Amino acid sequence: MEYSIVTHNLSKKFGSFTAVDKINLNIRPGDICAFLGPNGAGKTTAIRMLCGILKPSAGSGSVLGYDLLRNPEKIKENLGYMSQKFSLYYDLTVRENLNFYAGIYSLASKRRHQKIEEMINLADLAGREDQLVANLSQGFKQRLALSCAIISDPQVIFLDEPTSGVSPAARRSFFNIIQELANQGKTIIISTHFMDEAERCGQIAFFNQGQLLALDHPAQLKKHAVPGKLYRIEVEDPIRLLNKLRHWPGIKEVSLHGRSLHILLEEDRLAILKKYLGTEPKVIEPTLEDVFMALAKRKEGERYESNYLGN
Ligand SMILES: Nc1ncnc2c1ncn2[C@@H]1O[C@H](COP(=O)(O)OP(=O)(O)OP(=O)(O)O)[C@@H](O)[C@H]1O
Ligand SMILES: [Mg+2]
Repeated sequence: MEYSIVTHNLSKKFGSFTAVDKINLNIRPGDICAFLGPNGAGKTTAIRMLCGILKPSAGSGSVLGYDLLRNPEKIKENLGYMSQKFSLYYDLTVRENLNFYAGIYSLASKRRHQKIEEMINLADLAGREDQLVANLSQGFKQRLALSCAIISDPQVIFLDEPTSGVSPAARRSFFNIIQELANQGKTIIISTHFMDEAERCGQIAFFNQGQLLALDHPAQLKKHAVPGKLYRIEVEDPIRLLNKLRHWPGIKEVSLHGRSLHILLEEDRLAILKKYLGTEPKVIEPTLEDVFMALAKRKEGERYESNYLGN
């Protein structure tokens, strides 16, 4: 199977409000795809449709070859889903939670025992099997929630903001587990607000107001999504210069970062700017935030040409 997740103009309306607007996805086994975007952009709604939990209003799609509209039950059986609120039972122990989820997926008793041990190790929970979940730290809760979601060994895994509210160290160890799962050929969708996590994903899907603005590798996005070149200059009085440069022709954007300015410049304007400043501004790589800002400003008709949006 070339793609484990495919959608064509997949949409969801709640009444007259469009929460997801004609998204086209092509995601391969072994890919980690980050869903990035502001609150309310439609990430969770898209994930819930892809999980077969929420019926699309229009468009089509398939997960692992199963059709979203005709076969949602088959999809539900074959994927792992970690919801934005970790679905753990706080008054049960670690082992009881794993046993509960093994039961939901009807794992036979021999395999169940083996999988539970495997999941305890994956989550680094050895020695805490009999602890109540209520007393676990947030990082352990998160890893246990992941273990519960993947105890049936699903080939597609949806993780909806799994790393909010956990420490940077716990986020890193969680991400290492995810990368290991992807190396085994599993497809992973992860929604996040952390740019550093998105950087580690093979693909980023940028959502804004229900639309998918782009789907591509982080490096490709940085290279192609920002129109013009980004420069940094350090000056004595950045605010005064900011106000001066704001209305310059050829400067698409100028912003203040501590004592330096970031300037988004049209390609052919460098010589004039250099002359004005009397110094050579440094070229810098755009951040994913710069990419998002640039994508959000694009108008209909100048959409980002992704490698993976398909049609
Ligand atoms: N069941 C529902 N009924 C009506 N509106 C809904 C429903 N579910 C979601 N919405 C709306 O759809 C939009 C997209 O919501 P969604 O939860 O998908 O966003 P999100 O990108 O996951 O945001 P966040 O980053 O805050 O989790 C929001 O405006 C939300 O209020
Ligand atoms: Mg959400």
